[in-house]
Order: sequence, then C-alpha cells, then structure tokens
Amino acid sequence: MTGEPRSSAAQFNALADRYATSEVHRAGPSLPVLLALAAPEPADVVLDVATGTGNTALALAPQVAHVTGLDLAQAMLAHAQDRAAREGTANARFVVGSAEALPYEDGHFTLVTSRHAPHHFRQVERFLAEAFRVLAPGGRLVLADQISVSAGLQPWTDGYQRLRDPSHFAQRTVAAWQALTAAAGFRWAASEIVPYRLDFDWWTTQAGCTPQTVQALQAHAARLDSEQAREAGLHFGEAGELVAHTEPMLVVRLEKR
Ligand SMILES: C[S@@+](CC[C@H](N)C(=O)[O-])C[C@H]1O[C@@H](n2cnc3c(N)ncnc32)[C@H](O)[C@@H]1O
Repeated sequence: MTGEPRSSAAQFNALADRYATSEVHRAGPSLPVLLALAAPEPADVVLDVATGTGNTALALAPQVAHVTGLDLAQAMLAHAQDRAAREGTANARFVVGSAEALPYEDGHFTLVTSRHAPHHFRQVERFLAEAFRVLAPGGRLVLADQISVSAGLQPWTDGYQRLRDPSHFAQRTVAAWQALTAAAGFRWAASEIVPYRLDFDWWTTQAGCTPQTVQALQAHAARLDSEQAREAGLHFGEAGELVAHTEPMLVVRLEKR
C-alpha cells in the first residue's frame, strides 16, 4: 500500500471478506444510535447508501416496509445478499450504484441512511443533493460518519486515514457537516457523537496494511506534539508506540421539510 488514491470499489471488493466478519461494522455503537435517530416505522421505504455488507440495511429491515442497500462494491453486496438469505429477510434488496448518482425517482424513499461511508465520497455535495431529491417531503436522512475534531487537525487526520485506506477521501468537522447539509436544504434535527476506540493492530489488519504502511502510520503519529496527539485521540504504549486511537463518530438526523 503506497498511500496513492484508490477507488472505493477496488478497496472494498478486495477486503469484503474481512468486513463481513467485522463486529465493529456489524454491531458497533453508532448503529443503535442511528436506529434511534431514524425512528423507523412499518410504512418506511428505506435506502441505505454505501451499505457494504448490509449491516445497517439488515438492522432496519425487520422494522420497515422495504430496504434497498446500494454500494459500489459488488463483493460487499454479495455478503449482504448471503446474510439476508441466511436470516430469512425477504424485504431487502441490494444493488450496485453510486452515492453521487442515485438511480431512483424524486421522492421515492421516506428514509435514507448512510453509515461509516461518507468520508469515502468524492462529491459529498452531490450525495447530499441526491439524498434530498430521492426523499419524499417529511423524509429524513440519517448519517453516521467519523469526524475530525478540528479544522486545524483535519489535514493530519486525512493523511493518517489515507495511509491506512487509500480510498479515504475527507473526514469533515461537525461545522463542515452543518454547512454542507444546510446548503443541501436539510434541517439538522438531532445529533450525537459516539466515540470508537480502535485498536491499532486490528485497525491496520482490517485494512490489509503492509508492514511498511504500519511503520508509516507510526511515523505519521510521531509528527504530532503531545497536545495535538491528545486532540487526535491517539493512545500510546509504554515504549511510545501507537496502540489505539479514538475516532469520534457523528450520528445525525436531517429532515427534509
Ligand atoms: C466502511 S464500509 C461501510 C459499510 C456499511 N455502511 C456499514 O455500516 O457496515 C464503506 C462502504 O462504502 C462504499 N462506498 C464508498 N464510496 C461509495 C460511493 N461513492 N457510492 C456507493 N458506495 C460507496 C464502499 O464500497 C464500502 O462498501
């Protein structure tokens, strides 16, 4: 891994088997918060954007009329389909597609979700405009995504994340999300920050990092002074090596009036 940009489809098709068994993605603490903010109803018609292996779509399915899970990576969707079949979920379907060009008519959905994915989107404004378009009036968009704690630290954070996963694009601040979602026409109804403490060995293995990339990540962490490292949520071992970091996850309910 070199840190060169890589498409999400290439990255996630290659790593689909690891994601399918990742408990952090399947059941991590942003999921119950997202479900609570979404407040799913039996009549809801749902679109889960960048559904991956279907974790959010399949958690919603028993509570709504129908769920579509959309993703760029066919290998991720194959896991979602297998899991739906295993669990006997009949009201979910999975389609290949892009967050930035949703293949649906205006007002088709009552709820749109996207979890742990918008930091990969190249054109997040397009995604927000598309989510707004495919929602019916009164519909809601519920997002869960990792955030940067400050605009000053974002370049370091994006560099750190991109070294580990070259398909990473931008880890925005809460203020940036507020501006972007307001510009798209959404009302910010409610939000929570959910901290994820991620073990460094697990985190790098999950992304298929080479020993060279692991070294580069340690060196990247060492560039911060102690105050910046604390702000970035880095945790060090006794020998000064990076052992974990805490990633704040923004979960927000946005409404289309
Ligand atoms: C970390 S996984 C998250 C999966 C899932 N939402 C979950 O909660 O477990 C990110 C997913 O985003 C997908 N993705 C990235 N960019 C995308 C885009 N522009 N359109 C659709 N899917 C995208 C990737 O293929 C990958 O499956």
